[in-house]
Amino acid sequence: MSEILTTPADGILTITFNRPDKKNALTSAMYASLADALEKADTESDVRVILFTGNGGAFTAGNDLQDFLNNPPAGEETPVFRFLRAISTISKPMIAAVSGVAVGVGTTMLLHCDLVYAAENAKFSLPFVNLALVPEAASSLLLPRMIGHHRASELLLLGEPFTAATAKEYGIVNAVHAEDRLLDEAMQVARKIAAKPPTAVRLTKQLLRQSKGDVAGQMAAEGVHFRAQLKSAEAREAMTAFFEKRPPKFS
Ligand code: COA
Repeated sequence: MSEILTTPADGILTITFNRPDKKNALTSAMYASLADALEKADTESDVRVILFTGNGGAFTAGNDLQDFLNNPPAGEETPVFRFLRAISTISKPMIAAVSGVAVGVGTTMLLHCDLVYAAENAKFSLPFVNLALVPEAASSLLLPRMIGHHRASELLLLGEPFTAATAKEYGIVNAVHAEDRLLDEAMQVARKIAAKPPTAVRLTKQLLRQSKGDVAGQMAAEGVHFRAQLKSAEAREAMTAFFEKRPPKFS
């Protein structure tokens, strides 16, 4: 069976790390499948939301260490960089459901997800420095921006595991659920977003991600999309449905 499973249903593409005997550690071949799946999903109008999860009680133990030794990535077109580029540029919302270990890229990829849900047993870690490596996936920028410099320094300079409760307190996890409820809870959120007007969802994600902290510039960027959206078919459908007292349908 494939080590990356892709399951499309109801506008949601579920991507499952499926190498449970190795805690879903990611090989070069798995990164290539992930990059292919994400690049394709971004062009397919019937995919509205991407949901990441892992089989066998782990999210992912990060990069396969054997692969790091035998086959270190050598350039921007290698599978791992294609994957990182895809998660950092994809226009559609990404949700992660994290149970068990989320090591290295298993945690840094969450900084690119739009919503993150964790099981009570989730265990995160950023052990780059312990492996004589440095942060990747722009985590040295995104993590301090999201949780503050001192907390980011603690996680990246010590590389010690931290719990779902800490991740929630730091704001890199939206909510913590019992392990047996996690996937259903994340899927429910994915379904809600998949039912919303898709262009408005993508533009909202883009505005959130591209913010440079400049209020006037951000308001101008919002204004461009706001005015265009007001004239869109999906806005007409949303408002017409309100007056017709029925749920909107965005095909
Ligand atoms: N690369 C390659 N193999 C890995 C791996 C990784 N990143 N993480 C786990 N595995 C393998 C183990 O070697 C073991 O294989 P084996 O059964 O053939 O001996 C199997 O997966 C199960 O791992 P194990 O260590 O027995 O599970 P655990 O529950 O005790 O610990 C981890 C889980 C993730 C905490 C631990 O495996 C670990 O620290 N892995 C390395 C994580 C890492 O450094 N990733 C790179 C970050 S940049």
